[in-house]
Amino acid sequence: MSDNNTGSNEPTEPGDAVHEQRQSPKRVIGTPAQDGRLLVTAEGEPAPHGAGAELDEESAKRAERVVALFFLLAALGSVGFIAAYVYAGTLGENGMHGVDDAQVSNYLLGGGMTVAMLAMAIGVTIWVRRLMTSKQIIQKRGNLYSDEPTREEFATNFLEGAGDSAVTKRPLLRRTLLLAAAPLGLAPLVLLRDLGPLPEKRLRHTFWGEAVKHAKEHGKKGVRLVVDGTNRPLRVSDFATPGSMITVLPEGIEESHHAMNDIAKAVTILINIPADRFKPVKGRENWHVNGIVAYSKICTHVGCPAALYEQTTHHILCPCHQSTFDATDGAKVIFGPAARSLPQLPLAVEDGYLIATGDYPEPVGPSFWERG
Ligand code: FES
Repeated sequence: MSDNNTGSNEPTEPGDAVHEQRQSPKRVIGTPAQDGRLLVTAEGEPAPHGAGAELDEESAKRAERVVALFFLLAALGSVGFIAAYVYAGTLGENGMHGVDDAQVSNYLLGGGMTVAMLAMAIGVTIWVRRLMTSKQIIQKRGNLYSDEPTREEFATNFLEGAGDSAVTKRPLLRRTLLLAAAPLGLAPLVLLRDLGPLPEKRLRHTFWGEAVKHAKEHGKKGVRLVVDGTNRPLRVSDFATPGSMITVLPEGIEESHHAMNDIAKAVTILINIPADRFKPVKGRENWHVNGIVAYSKICTHVGCPAALYEQTTHHILCPCHQSTFDATDGAKVIFGPAARSLPQLPLAVEDGYLIATGDYPEPVGPSFWERG
């Protein structure tokens, strides 16, 4: 029968050297031998470059400079990424760029990050392969808690490892690595800017406050309520039917600099509640006009328009997640996920017209405000 390993038909005997060789398959680098050793080089071949306790200083210096160059390239890539991000924000009006600009910005951002990550990876790889020395460390398994000599041995090995990695000996590498790592770590942070500008205190006030202030400067008690859509000031007599609801805004809001934003925050529902059902909130007894009350139309859950009004129950419903507010009782929540009442606007009458005498006392909109 033929021998597949050698192709020879020569018979062999146990104990014969040729027989042993034929019976043991050739070992592959990296596989453990029967005695547990790992074969890291082909037998008889020299150790790979860089392995061993000593390095040729001349070639190590060359490798060090190459690694440093890659780290510098990584730093430039990260800085380029940040610069591309800032530049992309200047494209288009108010940073609202079109498809072409978005493509350019994606290329620049992707290019910068690719250069940074690739150069960093190449630098670290060359460092490991050309500059780190390697030696076998044998550690016996013992108790979880290490005794003093073991810990000392670990500390010694650790320091030796640091020395072998060339971190302590090669300040150029250390510094360029830090230089490369710092902007690379910063790059994802600048993306937080996409969450938008800080709201500051702008969302705590609405145009009602500004309009009331302006009206008072001109000798008025407050600002008139105008009907959304027609901008017609609303007389008390125009809204005399109990059970009715209408959407109103402060007079003059159309001329404000940021009319759309201001309207979005100031939009208000006006409800005429029958006298026998109305329960004024303590401390707000004079905030209504004969049962006419004003609440913010923005749901305090996640901000949908709470604009469904049930005349028989006087409930205000938000269609998004079914939060329900009691219009007769300060718009407090009686059902659903909203956590707080709809803010109430203080009302009065001036020259027969309904007016607001102040801003909402609390922020309008979703209820994360009280947590921040
Ligand atoms: S937004 Fe109104 S219930 Fe969710």
